[in-house]
Formats: sequence, C-alpha cells, structure tokens
Amino acid sequence: MALIRGFIASSLDGRVADAGGGVEWLAPFRKVDPGYGAFIDDVGTVVMGRRTYDLIPSLGTGWPYAGKRGFVVTSRRGDPVQRGVRFWREGLPDLIERLRDLDDGDAWVVGGAGLLAAFAEAGALDRLSLLIAPVLLGEGLRLFPERAGAPRGLVLRGTASLAMGVVRLDYELPPLRAGRGRGRTAGSQGVAEV
Ligand SMILES: NC(=O)c1ccc[n+]([C@@H]2O[C@H](COP(=O)([O-])OP(=O)(O)OC[C@H]3O[C@@H](n4cnc5c(N)ncnc54)[C@H](OP(=O)(O)O)[C@@H]3O)[C@@H](O)[C@H]2O)c1
Repeated sequence: MALIRGFIASSLDGRVADAGGGVEWLAPFRKVDPGYGAFIDDVGTVVMGRRTYDLIPSLGTGWPYAGKRGFVVTSRRGDPVQRGVRFWREGLPDLIERLRDLDDGDAWVVGGAGLLAAFAEAGALDRLSLLIAPVLLGEGLRLFPERAGAPRGLVLRGTASLAMGVVRLDYELPPLRAGRGRGRTAGSQGVAEV
C-alpha cells in the first residue's frame, strides 16, 4: 500500500506561491539540496492539481517526473501529452482509493496548496516534508488555506538545517480517528536532528 506524501517549499510566512502564483522567489534556493533525490527514489506516482500542472512548462525544466505515474486532478476535458500521466476527473475519494492500492512506491501530492489540504482533510496525507525558505512574502497562496475544522496535531519526525537558511521539517499525520486511514506507520526518515 502506498504512503501518500507531501514535499513542498514554503516561505517563512507560510506561502507556496507569490501573489501572481509564481515561485521565482524560490530560485535562489534551488542550489540547496533538500534530500530530494532520496525522496523521489521512493515515489512511484505524482499527483497534482491542474494549475500546478499547467505551470510546469513555464519553469523551463521540461516534465520533471519522467518514469513516474502521474495523476492531474481536474474537471476539464482533454488529455495530457506526457506519457504515463492521466487527467483525473473522478473525484478525490476514488483517487485516494486508487493510490492506496498501488504497491510500486509512494504517492507524492506535489501541490498545489488546495489539493494538499484536501488530502489532509480527507485523512489521506501520511507524511508532510516542508522546506521552509527564509523569505517573508507578505502575500500569496497560503500553504494551508484558512478553513473551519478541528485543530489537528502532527508528529515531528525529523528536522534538518540546510544551506542558505533553509529548514526541512518532516511530519507524520496521525489518522483522523481510530480505524480510519493508513496501514503503515511512518518511521524516522533518517533526517539529521538539528
Ligand atoms: N512551493 C511549492 O513547492 C509549490 C509546489 C506546487 C505548486 N506550487 C504553486 O501552487 C500554485 C497552484 O496551486 P493551487 O492550489 O492554486 O492550484 P492546484 O491545486 O495546482 O490546481 C487547482 C485545480 O486543480 C483541480 N483541483 C485541485 N484540487 C481539487 C479537488 N480537491 N477536487 C477537484 N479538483 C481539484 C481543479 O482543476 P479544474 O479547474 O480543472 O477543475 C483546480 O482548479 C501555483 O502558483 C504553483 O506555483 C508551489
């Protein structure tokens, strides 16, 4: 059964994109190694919202997830051009079930913020790795949108202080309630304690 994971960069004030939806403010930090290589090796499937998918060509990196299965959550018709990528229009519960059935690596919810929050609210986000850049954006897309809902505790599993003041925090999200959710308990990721 696949673990469903988040691995996302945020400003210190909790934004994943600037007011225009851009991530250029992250560019100076691209030279920092956040442990992405080890992370992506464990990932068999990437999942993203349609807006994130549509923004990828503007990054100039080509399709960065070659060799991984891909699901793009959308209500719109059409077909993606990348091999192994599917537009998913059947709703989140069925997608979560589909991801749980996979046995060839973890599923990474790349973003955006709304999709990540929707997985968390459904009790279907097992781990969250946050890369916090020492930047205050002041405005922009919040990592977690403000929503009504019960407070939720996360378990800190690892921390790492990286170059250029970037900090990595690895969390485990406990099941929403007993008997629901994940079949595997996440252990330490071997990230150096600060
Ligand atoms: N900092 C980082 O590491 C990072 C990582 C990824 C993305 N980002 C940034 O995040 C921004 C995009 O995030 P976003 O939250 O605005 O958009 P998004 O989640 O990427 O895409 C939103 C679209 O995806 C579909 N969708 C998302 N959640 C859905 C759900 N629960 N049910 C049904 N459909 C759903 C809908 O597509 P339809 O309209 O087709 O129905 C929706 O309009 C971009 O600015 C990107 O640069 C940052």
